[in-house]
Amino acid sequence: MSQAKTLEMLISREQIAETVKRMARQIEGDYPAEMPLLVAVLKGSFVFLADLVRQMHRSVELDFLRLSSYGSGTESSGNIKLRMGVTSPIRGRDVLVVEDIVDMGLTTQYAYGYLRRKGASSVKICTLLDKPSRRQGRVKVDYMGFTVPNEFVVGYGLDFAERYRHLPDIYILTGGCDGP
Ligand code: IMP
Ligand code: MG
Repeated sequence: MSQAKTLEMLISREQIAETVKRMARQIEGDYPAEMPLLVAVLKGSFVFLADLVRQMHRSVELDFLRLSSYGSGTESSGNIKLRMGVTSPIRGRDVLVVEDIVDMGLTTQYAYGYLRRKGASSVKICTLLDKPSRRQGRVKVDYMGFTVPNEFVVGYGLDFAERYRHLPDIYILTGGCDGP
């Protein structure tokens, strides 16, 4: 029998907004000549991406990558699959990967390798959340919003079995997270 699920607020929408603004300034400052191509890793990063680009003062090109490793639970299978690749030309471009969360780091590592193999001249990583305690992959995070504890978090685009993406704040989900 599954336990009742509870949501405990971890990061408020106000904190998120302030941090996203800070990250946009930092990125713009680091690419004075030309903005990088932003490649968002679907699905979880869609809310962050939307807020991030609206804090930028220059046009940015976007593309999307869809990777999957999770089933419907909270544990990564470790077996990353490319569900949808980018369509923009990558060769010779500066690329910035936009992630919702870097947990074990395997998804980000896959995205990095994929874009490198496509000939990007640089690939940097931007993530709203970093959960460093379970890191396995070798990942250098260049832009980071918040470090989160080793808990399952939802909201602001992040889901548990496709639920909770709509929440404007970020919550820790507890109770019966181990199955669908
Ligand atoms: P990694 O390969 O373990 O780093 O997993 C990265 C992906 O797993 C993220 O892009 C998320 O989609 C998902 N993920 C990892 N931790 C969480 C979490 O706490 N809540 C929701 N999704 C998560
Ligand atoms: Mg995800």
